[in-house]
Amino acid sequence: MDFDDRIIAGQEQEADGWQYSLRPRVLKEYIGQEQIKDNLSVFIKAAAARKEALDHVLLFGPPGLGKTTLANIIANELNVNIRVTSGPAIERQGDLAAILTNLGDNDVLFIDEIHRLSKTVEEILYSAMEDFALDIIIGKGPSARSVRLDLPKFTLIGATTRLGAIAAPLRDRFGVQCRLEFYKPSELQFIVSRAAEILDVQIDREGAEEIARRSRGTPRIANRLLKRVRDFAQVLGCETITKQVAAEALAKLEVDAHGFDRNDRRILTTIVKTFGGGPVGIETIAAAISEEATTIEDVIEPYLLQQGMLQRTPRGRIATRETYRYLGVPFPEKG
Ligand code: ADE
Repeated sequence: MDFDDRIIAGQEQEADGWQYSLRPRVLKEYIGQEQIKDNLSVFIKAAAARKEALDHVLLFGPPGLGKTTLANIIANELNVNIRVTSGPAIERQGDLAAILTNLGDNDVLFIDEIHRLSKTVEEILYSAMEDFALDIIIGKGPSARSVRLDLPKFTLIGATTRLGAIAAPLRDRFGVQCRLEFYKPSELQFIVSRAAEILDVQIDREGAEEIARRSRGTPRIANRLLKRVRDFAQVLGCETITKQVAAEALAKLEVDAHGFDRNDRRILTTIVKTFGGGPVGIETIAAAISEEATTIEDVIEPYLLQQGMLQRTPRGRIATRETYRYLGVPFPEKG
């Protein structure tokens, strides 16, 4: 079956067409996350050889690291259909029932943001995952009755940025659990070079290195920055993206040499300058910079933590010696 023939329902892929075309389609093309790839390839081979559905897979980690891409690759490698949806899109039990009853044997159902499923939907998902059956109540009051619908064997792939927001009974029903990590600069450099080739843009090694270094360990950001740098290069009449062109363009995009953007700097500056380096609660930081606390926790903070620019403590976030050095503020030595 051709990759493009598969059912892909969901707006993100559609609105994000170019990004989709940059996505690798087989595990061999997928750069980075070596351990996850190695393990998945074993599980995929074993399930395919048994002609069974792959066990349910939970992918978690910060946004933009390739959870959706991996889900598509898994379905492609299994040579089955994939149906793509998201937690908030499945509002009622009937929505999930409609999706599940339309799956074919061994198909993949991908639920992005699975931590945002409603409680009632989540409840019927348990028996669907475990017994491949749905127990649905039809009707209301005294005439209500329960019917059991048999489902095809399928693989649920759930993706989330917040493992902690998934109830233990749901989490435990995933036989395969993978934490995606931030990419190394060398891996991102490969990803940028590969994307440049697909986009037919010339970029030299140092140019790709510069974009990679400033992409917050995240392929989605690397691909986005490549496209914007390409715009600058084109308008400036530069045929090849060099380190210098990349650095100039990224400076205009307010992405600094560490790869931190305005949001990163706002948070670090707020903790250091407004709250004396912390500890300060996430809600307080959120109010101070008019940002959602969940956006800070899921999107902005993970990379800052990984870079040692922030520490999480029971009393709140604190700035580190690194943070002070980065902001050019003297570190307050304890007296
Ligand atoms: N594009 C986005 N993520 C990628 C990855 N992990 N490998 C190759 N190309 C990618």
